[in-house]
Order: sequence, then C-alpha cells, then structure tokens
Amino acid sequence: MTDAAFTPRVFSGIQPSGGLTLGNYLGALKRFVEMQDAGTFECVYCMVDLHAITVWQDPEELRKNTREAAAAFIAAGIDPARSILFNQSQAPEHAQLAWIFNTVARMGWMGRMTQWKDKAGKNSENASLGLFAYPALMAADILAYHATHVPVGEDQKQHLELTRDIAAKFNHDYDVDFFPITEPVIEGPATRVMSLRDGTKKMSKSDPSDMSRINLTDDADTISKKFKKARTDPEPLPETYAELKDRPEARNLVDIFAALSGVSTDAVMAEHGGAGWGQFKPRLAEVAVEKMAPMTDEMNRLMADPGEIDRILGEGAGRAREIAAPILAKTYDIVGLIASK
Ligand code: TYM
Repeated sequence: MTDAAFTPRVFSGIQPSGGLTLGNYLGALKRFVEMQDAGTFECVYCMVDLHAITVWQDPEELRKNTREAAAAFIAAGIDPARSILFNQSQAPEHAQLAWIFNTVARMGWMGRMTQWKDKAGKNSENASLGLFAYPALMAADILAYHATHVPVGEDQKQHLELTRDIAAKFNHDYDVDFFPITEPVIEGPATRVMSLRDGTKKMSKSDPSDMSRINLTDDADTISKKFKKARTDPEPLPETYAELKDRPEARNLVDIFAALSGVSTDAVMAEHGGAGWGQFKPRLAEVAVEKMAPMTDEMNRLMADPGEIDRILGEGAGRAREIAAPILAKTYDIVGLIASK
C-alpha cells in the first residue's frame, strides 16, 4: 500500500505525569499547533494517562495534571473544534490494540529501549510490567489512527522506530498492508531543550531541581530569575552558531531564543554575536515572558472551569473512537478473533 492510501493524519501525545515544561512546549506543543494550522493533516492529540501510570502517580494529582495538560494544549493554540483532543484512557481501543502489539513486539526489542533502561535503572526487577511494555502502547496510540506523521522531540525517536518495526512485522506476519509505516517529525531548533543547570541533560519535569526547567505555570518573575541564573560558561556569545559546538549551555540558550522568537539560530547569532551574558540573558527572559505569560494566563483561566475541560476531553474521545474503533475491529479480524455480530 502506498502512503497515498492513508489519510494524512498526525498523532502525538504527552504524559500528564507532572507539570509541563518549556521542553514540552517547544519540542511538542508549539509544533502540534503548527501542524494543526498547516491544514494538511487531521490532528489527533492525546494526554497519555495510561502511560503515566507505568510509574506511580497519586490519583488526584494525575487527574489535576491531565486537566492542566489539556489546558496547556488549548492555551498553546490547539483548537478542540479543529483537532481531536482527549485523554487516552477514554478511548479503550488504545489498550486493546496494545495487547495485540504485545504479541507482535519481541522482548529483545523492548529491552533495548534506552528510556526503559534509564527509567528502570539497576532495579529493573522491581519496575512495572507496564513500563517495559510502554512502547507497544505508544505504537497502539499511533497506529489505532493509521497516523502517518508523529511530531515529537528527539528523545522519542527510538520509540518511533519501534512503532515502525511493529507495523512492519504485523503487516509481514499477517501478509497485509494494513498499518502505515509512520514518519517521525523531529524538526526545528528545539527538538532537545536542555536543563538550565546542566547542558548535557534534557530539560525534564522529573528533574529534582526546579531551577533546571521553566514550567508552563511559572510566573514572569520566576521565568526571568531562572534564565538569569541559568548556568553558562564565562565566554561571550561567538559570531557563528557553529562555534557553539562544544558549549552546550550556551547553545541551549541560543536554541531556546530562536525557537521562542520563531527565527533561525543564524539570525540570533547575527543579532547577538559578541554579546555578554549580562546582555543576552535579560533579552532571552523578556522574549520568554512575552511568549509565555499570555499562555499561563489562559491556562489559569481554563483551569478555573474543570467541568468544561472534562467536556472537551469527552467530546474529543468520542471523535477519536470513531476513527480508532473500525481500525481495531479490522485488526481483530486480521488476527482471527471472532467479533460479536
Ligand atoms: P513526554 O510526555 O515525555 O513528552 C511529550 C513531548 O515533549 C517532548 N519533550 C521535549 N522536547 C524537547 N526538549 C525537551 N527537553 C523535551 N522533553 C519532552 C517529547 O519528545 C514529546 O514529544 N512517550 C511519550 C508520550 C507518548 C507519545 C505517544 C508521543 C505516548 N504515546 C504517541 C507520540 C506519539 C512521552 O513520554 O513524551
């Protein structure tokens, strides 16, 4: 089956396992909005709550974080009338298809996932079975919609390769051309936003230091303070981006500046090359506050009415299931499961 046989459709997801960060915004949300606004794709976006519980979540916190993530999607520019926005557990097809994929994926494939190795660490005997099977559920998220494109940050690349492997093995084993071989979309200057305390580590909601990240709920003063205190080297900014090769903290701040202001990294260097940190950091903080403050305000406004968020998620789940249910039914049929008539 050629690519043209599949509706151009985007799927992507975010775990509601804590507050979202600037990394989630630049690496994912902002690009989700761009793909929605391009108008060439049907877009399906999801709070992956079933993924979140592969490590312990406090139930009330999980519900709050799921609503907060939904508010962040909308505040960032996702229009629930144009895109489908919902939480994963409301569309049971994800878990059902994931079971089929658990029988397709091999233990060896899962064991090689770096995220599994990082999260399970030396204590893998004690990690949940769900954490090990996590990438099969992720493949189900994507393939339940026959999604052709998946925008993500750099850290999800290996999981998307595994999704392609699962689709290819299913198609091969059952001698069908049923699942698309999905394209990862990992583009732009901020596919890997780094910690503000250590330029070799990814910015993450699970980092113990709050100073390492910008949260989407941070107020203007906190954002400014975090950028001003961000770790850097003593050298001023060079004239060209290439000269930042071995300066991870400096490069990270330039990448963030470019992504937030929607210009290329070369344009940032042309304007700020030669500047010291005393000049560049306040300018970066200004750009960040300008961009993020309205979003935080809008998130707070939306969070004041959780009933409305739940209504949007419920409606989105209904629309999601209209796409996923027939794909799951066809999958069951291919596999040889008898369906009720
Ligand atoms: P998660 O929840 O860790 O992150 C959500 C999205 O944000 C991106 N991201 C970043 N991008 C740039 N710099 C960073 N520091 C940074 N931190 C996070 C991630 O790459 C991701 O795009 N397994 C996925 C969730 C998932 C999913 C899916 C994604 C489940 N099913 C299906 C796509 C399609 C995850 O844990 O993302």
